[in-house]
Amino acid sequence: MSEPIPFFRHDLGEGEVEAFRRALADPILTTGDTVALFERRFAAEVGRGHAVAVTSCTGALHLSLIVFGIGPGDEVITTPLTFIATSTAIFEAGATPVLVDVEPETGNLDVARIEAAITPRTKAIIPVHLYGQMVDMRALRALADRHRLRIIEDAAHCVEGRRDGVGPGQLGDTACFSFYATKSITCGEGGAIVTDDEALAARLRRLRLHGMTKAAADRQREGYQHWDMTELGWKYNLDNLQAAILLPQLDRLEANWAKRSAIAAEYERRLLNVPGLSLPRTRPGVRHARHLFPVWIANDKRDQVVGALQSRGISVMVNYRAIHLLSYFQKTLGHAPGAFPNAERIGDATLSLPMYPALLPEQQARVADALIDAVAPFVEVRAPAEVARSL
Ligand SMILES: Cc1ncc(COP(=O)(O)O)c(C=O)c1O
Repeated sequence: MSEPIPFFRHDLGEGEVEAFRRALADPILTTGDTVALFERRFAAEVGRGHAVAVTSCTGALHLSLIVFGIGPGDEVITTPLTFIATSTAIFEAGATPVLVDVEPETGNLDVARIEAAITPRTKAIIPVHLYGQMVDMRALRALADRHRLRIIEDAAHCVEGRRDGVGPGQLGDTACFSFYATKSITCGEGGAIVTDDEALAARLRRLRLHGMTKAAADRQREGYQHWDMTELGWKYNLDNLQAAILLPQLDRLEANWAKRSAIAAEYERRLLNVPGLSLPRTRPGVRHARHLFPVWIANDKRDQVVGALQSRGISVMVNYRAIHLLSYFQKTLGHAPGAFPNAERIGDATLSLPMYPALLPEQQARVADALIDAVAPFVEVRAPAEVARSL
C-alpha cells in the first residue's frame, strides 16, 4: 500500500523550538509577558482591540457566558451541527442550549429560523463559523439587537475568515478561538477571547484566574502584594510556554491560509461535478478560513466511503454528526431524530478530507481519486429510458 496520508499534520518546527527554549529561560513559566505579547499580536491579527488567552475555546465560551451573567434559568440559542463544546460550555454555565436548524447549503446556523426560538428566557446566541465560513453576522446582530441578546461567536474554525468586510468579534460581543492540536495555529491545547471592550477584557483576565486581582507576573514585577478575590472565576489561564509556541505561528498565518485555500480550490476543481458528492456552498462576500474541507456523500453511504478511504491509507474525519442525537443531548434536551432535518442530513453525509499546508499535490490527487472511486459504486445508474423520462 502507498504511504498513509494523515488527516492533519502540524507545521511546528525550529522557530517554535527556539521560542520554547527562550520561554524556559524565563523565571515565569505561567501567565506572564509572553502571554501578554501573544494577546497583543493575536488581537491585531484578527483586528480587535483586545485578546484574552485561555486554555481552550470551550473555556473561552464558558467565560464569555459567565461574564455576561448567563446561568441557570437562561436559554442560549445555538446550532446542532458543531463540535459538542459549543453546547457543553452552555451546560457548564448552568444554562440551557436551544438548538436551531442550519442552512442546507452551508451547514451554518440559519439566522432566519432563530426568531421563532426566542423566548423571555433567551439571553444569547452562539453562532459557529462552521468549517471556516462566517455566519451572516450583520443579519444576526440586527436580530440580536431587536431582542437585546448577546452574541458570543464560536470562531474555533475561523481565525482568518471574514464576511462582508466583518471579522470575528467585530459585531459579536465576544468571539472565541481554539488553539487545539488541529487548528490553524496550535499549542496542543489553548484558546482566546477577543473583544473591543477594554473593561470586559480586564474582567475576563480576572475570571480566567479564579477572580484574583493579581497574577504571578504582577508579583514578579511589583514584589508580593496582597491580592483580593472579587468574584468567582475559573482556572483557564494560558501559560508562557504555550504562548511562546503560538507566537511564531502568527507570522505564517496568512501564508498557511493561502496554501489551504489553494488546496481547497484544487479539491473543488476535482470534485465539483462528481455524481454522489456535493460540497457546501460558499456565500458571496465570504473570505473562507478553510479550516476544514468537508464533502457530503449522497445515498447514506458516508460510512462506507470513510471505510474505503481508510482502507487505502487515507485518514478522514467526520465534522460533525448532529449533536442533538448523541446520548447526553437526547437525555437532557429530549430531541428525537427528525428534530433538525438539515443538520441531521449533513451530519449523516459529511466527511472531512486532509487539508494542511504540508499536503503534497500528489497526495491530494490520491485523496481525490480514491474518493471518486469510493463513491462510484453507490451512484445510481439510471437506465436511458428513465433518464429520458425525467428530462
Ligand atoms: C466548533 C468548535 N467549537 C469549540 C471547540 C472547542 O475547542 P477547544 O478544544 O479549544 O476547547 C472546537 C474544537 O474542536 C470546535 O471545533
